[in-house]
Amino acid sequence: MKILVTGGAGFIGRWVVKRLLEDNNRVWVMDDLSNGSEENLKEFRNDPNLDVTIGDVKDVGVLSKLFNNNFDICIHLAASIIVQESIDNPRKTFENDVIGTFNILEEAKKHNTKFVFMSTCMVYDKASMGGAISETHPTKAASPYAGAKLAGENMTQSYYYAYGLPTVILRPFNTYGPYQKSTGEGGVISIFIQKELKCDFLNIYGDGTQTRDLMYVEDCADFVVQAAYSDEVNGEILNAGLGEDIAINELAGIICQVKGKIRNVKHIHPQSEILRLLCDYSKTKKLLGWKPKTSLIEGINKTRNWMKKSVGK
Ligand SMILES: NC(=O)c1ccc[n+]([C@@H]2O[C@H](COP(=O)([O-])OP(=O)(O)OC[C@H]3O[C@@H](n4cnc5c(N)ncnc54)[C@H](O)[C@@H]3O)[C@@H](O)[C@H]2O)c1
Repeated sequence: MKILVTGGAGFIGRWVVKRLLEDNNRVWVMDDLSNGSEENLKEFRNDPNLDVTIGDVKDVGVLSKLFNNNFDICIHLAASIIVQESIDNPRKTFENDVIGTFNILEEAKKHNTKFVFMSTCMVYDKASMGGAISETHPTKAASPYAGAKLAGENMTQSYYYAYGLPTVILRPFNTYGPYQKSTGEGGVISIFIQKELKCDFLNIYGDGTQTRDLMYVEDCADFVVQAAYSDEVNGEILNAGLGEDIAINELAGIICQVKGKIRNVKHIHPQSEILRLLCDYSKTKKLLGWKPKTSLIEGINKTRNWMKKSVGK
């Protein structure tokens, strides 16, 4: 198939591209490199089935030309992803995540391209004690990032209902693994491993009792690609995660055995923190036969091995 991946030079994007190429698809990447890099795609640079366009999803001219390739599927991953940045500069997040999504939906409609919208678990309200979050769980726009993703979801649904466009909305839980940034507000696992490798302090925002359901990136890519291929899930919203949550305090203790190197610091945005995130992926399992294959410990080890190599340790 002919498949466009926006944000394909990013962390999850490069794993989605890898899987699509392994499945013998013809793949186009569009990325403005604002948070991704060509380095992430180095492994596939010489693959004749990969075509990379450096461009912005806000640029309707570039999109219109690109869509003349008549893609079968567009996997829309490009987004501003940093919660704190969305609080500091909501316009940027709105323009990239809402207007960018609208621009792509318009092109998908013109060419009847299946549209896969990458949302996030950050749109959910916290899980109740003892309960996991299914797709019918209440949403809460706790940050402009979550608000923009919910707007993108609503626009995606509206194209499914109003125009019969084949679409699917994906809500992956927090994803980690090789190629994730370990700077700023990157992934918590990458940041903690990086600090541990450098014998630096692991900073935990707030009291550290907030929990996360952490999914290894190849499981996430498998979820995205399976949902893209399947007609069964058109019009649906789907979760994916590990199905287990862990408190950030406990996670820090697994990654760093030196207790004195772990400290709790003042939260940067307590008002937008989601206290408990635990994924119920039973709908996705039923419709796609998907389930995660990588345990948290295996995933942490794979990530640590990759980071050791990439920082030359
Ligand atoms: N990492 C996670 O834990 C996680 C969890 C749930 C959902 N998601 C979603 O998955 C997607 C990918 O996330 P990621 O973690 O790989 O982040 P990422 O920042 O590594 O990937 C996003 C990519 O989009 C590109 N991009 C941003 N704005 C763009 C624009 N205007 N035009 C073109 N390209 C643009 C960036 O350069 C980057 O390469 C995002 O939509 C994110 O919201 C991520």
